[in-house]
Amino acid sequence: MRCFTLACAVSASCALAGVGRGASADQWKTRSIYQVMVDRFARTDLSTTAPCTLYEFCNGTWAGLISKLDYIQDMGFTAIQISPVVKNLEGNTAVGTAYHGYWTVDDYAINEHFGTAQDLKDLSDALHQRGMYLMVDVVINNFAAAFNNTIPPPVDYSDFNPFNDAKYFHKYCNVTMWDNPTNYQDCWLYPYGVALADLDTESNTVVDMMTSWIKGLVANYSIDGLRIDAAKHVNDEFLPTFVEASGVFALGEVLTGVTDDLCRYQTLDLLPGLPNYLEYFPLYAAFNGGSMDSLTAARADAQNGCTDTLALGTFIENHDLPRFANTVEDMALAKNAMTYVLLNDGIPTVYQGQEQHFSGNSTPFNREPLWSSEYDTSAPLYNLTATLNKLRNTAIAYGTSYATSTSETLFSDVNHLCLRKGPQGSQIVFCINNQSSQGPSYELSVGGFSPGDSVVEVLTCTTVTADGTGNVTAYMDKGEPKVFFLARSLNNAGLCSNGTTSATPTSKSLAAARGVWSATLLLGAALGWAAWLLV
Ligand SMILES: *[C@@H]1O[C@H](CO)[C@@H](O)[C@H](O)[C@H]1NC(C)=O
Ligand SMILES: *[C@@H]1O[C@H](CO)[C@@H](O)[C@H](O)[C@H]1NC(C)=O
Ligand SMILES: *[C@@H]1O[C@H](CO)[C@@H](O)[C@H](O)[C@H]1NC(C)=O
Ligand SMILES: *[C@@H]1O[C@H](CO)[C@@H](O)[C@H](O)[C@H]1NC(C)=O
Ligand SMILES: *[C@@H]1O[C@H](CO)[C@@H](O)[C@H](O)[C@H]1NC(C)=O
Ligand SMILES: *[C@@H]1O[C@H](CO)[C@@H](O)[C@H](O)[C@H]1NC(C)=O
Ligand SMILES: *[C@@H]1O[C@H](CO)[C@@H](O)[C@H](O)[C@H]1NC(C)=O
Ligand SMILES: *[C@@H]1O[C@H](CO)[C@@H](O)[C@H](O)[C@H]1NC(C)=O
Repeated sequence: MRCFTLACAVSASCALAGVGRGASADQWKTRSIYQVMVDRFARTDLSTTAPCTLYEFCNGTWAGLISKLDYIQDMGFTAIQISPVVKNLEGNTAVGTAYHGYWTVDDYAINEHFGTAQDLKDLSDALHQRGMYLMVDVVINNFAAAFNNTIPPPVDYSDFNPFNDAKYFHKYCNVTMWDNPTNYQDCWLYPYGVALADLDTESNTVVDMMTSWIKGLVANYSIDGLRIDAAKHVNDEFLPTFVEASGVFALGEVLTGVTDDLCRYQTLDLLPGLPNYLEYFPLYAAFNGGSMDSLTAARADAQNGCTDTLALGTFIENHDLPRFANTVEDMALAKNAMTYVLLNDGIPTVYQGQEQHFSGNSTPFNREPLWSSEYDTSAPLYNLTATLNKLRNTAIAYGTSYATSTSETLFSDVNHLCLRKGPQGSQIVFCINNQSSQGPSYELSVGGFSPGDSVVEVLTCTTVTADGTGNVTAYMDKGEPKVFFLARSLNNAGLCSNGTTSATPTSKSLAAARGVWSATLLLGAALGWAAWLLV
């Protein structure tokens, strides 16, 4: 098994590991992903009033999802990621029912709660007709059995397909050492109410059965990419073999904020892409009393440590984490977080409900049915997402080098991060900040353009002209993010179609605020420098 990795390291085709008939890593880099929890997105009859208990099925389906694809595509998303699709264990347990799809019992049967095999094919077809990609979440680490907390869990392996015997699984032990790979890869996760029988993915027989399964699944439903659940909990050698067999790009879940622990999956060619947990933690912290400098530092670490940050999926929410708005209600802060997710290097990944500013806490409260929002397309974050995805799609339409080029940091301090991404002519310059809607008015000068360029700030539809050094002025106000694009390149983006107004400072308080701001900047710079000296 290890020789696969070594062979990979010297083979030219290795860079394309995991890329076959399906969409390639470079194609995925041009996409933005909307994560759908199928049970909670839309019901077949689109009803919104029948109440649902968050631990149980709420009856969302693939047919419902097909009916509501406009809601997703109108936000500019070009791919969706859906819950696992295979048959799960039935009935209630001490931790609820399998509404989420992660409790596999039969890899060769479709989850009937979500629909028929034909419904899933119809979903795939409907997406492809819209030019969108389908990413499917897959569980490779374990099969599930309900139990009443008698240890060791009494599992009836004959319930499973195709792994219908104890010989395909590791012997029971509870994961207790979260920093010991042998322990967290070979033992069973979270034995409470449900036993997650841990597949023996070191066994050649299991490897053959899993690779044969994933080939069939990808082919039968024309899947374009995979999200691999709990990738950290299987042995390293299994991952590239599985991804290669699938023939498609994959984002493998490795929940760690430690650069080396995450990046090793890329440097050792174990996985092509991963959700970007390296930037998740500092991004969250920057809006929760932390400093934007930590995000800037984490970006540099990821850049140095990983092989390809452009193949990481940027996110601030997913189905496993408390919602952003659970701790931070402020809309301006939510807009800054969303702006970063959509315009950062890598593949933007937005979890359903983030655009509605849902505020649930940990599982299952972060799994609110989307229909409770009545699919409100006038919600502020829906509008922001639509605007920025459309802008990003426009930049990519000028050439995929937008998506395959790494951002340059223009300006950063404890409160700000300004980045420039993309080649001359289709570059996007943006500044996020963490000052909230209580933030002051001030001017911030940022570069990234050529002298005399006419530039549109796309969130306010105001124009500014780049000065003799190619800088433009961001009129910062109430903590809003700022996003700039060349006026001449904005054609056909469907943005600012009612025209733009020129941004000119009129308020006399602005000059005063500017004075205050310069002082803050100097202080911030001094503090940043002092902190640097301490390292
Ligand atoms: C979901 O569907 C099942 C089976 O049809 C039904 O018993 C249940 O009441 C439904 N639940 C909701 C929340 O609609
Ligand atoms: C667990 O206990 C409950 C209540 O006694 C029972 O209904 C259920 O069937 C048991 N489940 C298993 C898997 O033994
Ligand atoms: C399993 O280990 C966890 C700690 O990782 C502990 O909280 C839990 O009680 C253990 N469960 C069993 C059934 O041993
Ligand atoms: C794919 O379809 C073939 C032909 O119907 C079937 O034999 C196979 O079991 C399917 N594979 C999966 C994973 O559904
Ligand atoms: C923004 O950053 C500053 C400086 O690090 C910090 O004091 C402040 O609490 C942060 N704001 C938020 C909303 O977290
Ligand atoms: C955002 O809302 C504004 C104001 O209602 C509207 O003019 C604009 O078209 C919306 N943007 C998008 C991309 O939907
Ligand atoms: C131009 O913008 C850069 C940040 O991109 C900033 O460091 C520089 O000070 C600005 N120049 C002027 C003259 O304001
Ligand atoms: C944009 O223009 C259209 C038609 O001219 C008008 O109906 C709409 O209200 C305008 N929207 C804004 C945000 O001004």
